[in-house]
Amino acid sequence: MPKITLIQHSGESYTVEAADGATVMEVAIDNDIDGIIGECGGCCSCATCHCYIDPAFLDKIPPRGDLETEMLEFASSEAKVNSRLACQVEITDELEGMVVILPETQL
Ligand code: FES
Repeated sequence: MPKITLIQHSGESYTVEAADGATVMEVAIDNDIDGIIGECGGCCSCATCHCYIDPAFLDKIPPRGDLETEMLEFASSEAKVNSRLACQVEITDELEGMVVILPETQL
C-alpha cells in the first residue's frame, strides 16, 4: 500500500497508508482527517472533497473528467491548475509519496 501525505490548511500533516483502489477522499475519511467532507459520497456532485495535488504527481493520475472540471467551479476555495476532487483520484502504487494539500474550507 502506498503512503500518501495529506496536509491541512493549518499545516497539520498526516502520512497514511492508502489502499490500492481507494480514492483520496476515502483515505482522508477513513483516517479521520479533517478538511475533506465528501458530502455526496464520491459521486462527483458536491465538490466538498476539493484538494490540491502535488504537481509532481499530476501526470501519474488520469486527467480530470468534464464533470469534475465543472464541479470544481463550485468549490469553496480557489480552484488551481492542480485542483482535483479527491473522490476522483484513485490510489495506485505509482502514487507512493504523493502530497495532497487540503484547502482552507470546503463549504
Ligand atoms: S465527494 Fe462529492 S464530489 Fe467528491
